[in-house]
Amino acid sequence: MEYRHLGRSGIKVSELSLGSWVTFHNQVGIDSAIESMSAAYEAGVNFFDNAENYASGLSEEVMGAALKKLGWRRGSYLVSTKFFWGINETPNEKNTLNRKYLIEGINGSLKRLGLDYVDLIFCHRPDSTTPIEETVWAMHNILEWGKALYWGTSEWSAAEIMAAIEIAERHHLHKPVMEQPQYNMFVRNRVEVEYARLFKDYGIGATTWSPLASGLLTGKYNNGIPEGSRGNLPGYEWLRDQLTNQNAITKVKQLQVIAAELGTTMAQMALAWCLKNPNVSTVITGASRVEQVRDNMKALAVVDKLTPDAMQQIGSIISGNDTLR
Ligand SMILES: NC(=O)c1ccc[n+]([C@@H]2O[C@H](COP(=O)([O-])OP(=O)(O)OC[C@H]3O[C@@H](n4cnc5c(N)ncnc54)[C@H](OP(=O)(O)O)[C@@H]3O)[C@@H](O)[C@H]2O)c1
Repeated sequence: MEYRHLGRSGIKVSELSLGSWVTFHNQVGIDSAIESMSAAYEAGVNFFDNAENYASGLSEEVMGAALKKLGWRRGSYLVSTKFFWGINETPNEKNTLNRKYLIEGINGSLKRLGLDYVDLIFCHRPDSTTPIEETVWAMHNILEWGKALYWGTSEWSAAEIMAAIEIAERHHLHKPVMEQPQYNMFVRNRVEVEYARLFKDYGIGATTWSPLASGLLTGKYNNGIPEGSRGNLPGYEWLRDQLTNQNAITKVKQLQVIAAELGTTMAQMALAWCLKNPNVSTVITGASRVEQVRDNMKALAVVDKLTPDAMQQIGSIISGNDTLR
């Protein structure tokens, strides 16, 4: 495992990390979380991604219980959480980045995770109804109180991120240092085009999500939705159109030929492809069982197989507009 600086910040994240969206609580209980997190940690993963709204707070509880049992030294790993959608129904606690919600939110997350602080906190989506200045101040205060160490955004536009940086600079506040965008072979434009200046001029780091497009880039959806897969989970019906998108599946089949020529799997090639982008600080993987964690960690060995020639072959299949979105 190699470790990359989170943008221009001093902290280093493992190139591959492990997240808990969909899986923790729904598919992965405390024992399997311990198994998956251990396999990842043993492979060198030092970053575990979470969010307040994953399984309405229960994903944080599962991760917290697992961390307690694992008993790792706190200095050896990083945990994140994210805020926006909320888990309570009142007017000030839903779809917002207002100060009150964020302050209450971090306290609730720390309790569920059983931690004194989280390493990274993200504003999970932009909130056009709260002044960015209010959110920047709240993030700054949370960091000053030692409840989180670094803050960033997730799926904000480049303009919104620049506005937050400018406000922070004007008032000498902690600046956002990372973004969490979707990035995979089928969703590339935001990271490769829109954020180019953020990486170059502002040193923003990227913790990227859904590297396998929810499993589509493993090839498992080539012949429909298999039993026991994410595409079959109750509550995730909205993903099915994407997972059965015929244009995408045609490309997966072409990409599988390249993976076979390189002597690797489609999933490992898709993960390694994300790692080839130097602006990506860490690729957050997801896994519903420990075997997938072990399998995905092998992507590290595939990065060197992606020669300029192989990257060009892949590029010719996925070029143009994003295949998904
Ligand atoms: N900031 C955001 O808005 C945001 C949004 C989404 C995700 N995230 C973060 O990013 C993390 C990763 O996202 P993701 O879970 O969507 O990642 P992904 O890699 O695109 O999908 C992971 C899913 O693919 C399947 N899979 C994984 N490895 C496999 C393998 N080797 N062979 C076959 N199937 C495999 C599993 O689903 P099944 O086995 O159940 O089919 C697994 O749960 C999340 O946990 C979360 O921390 C952030």
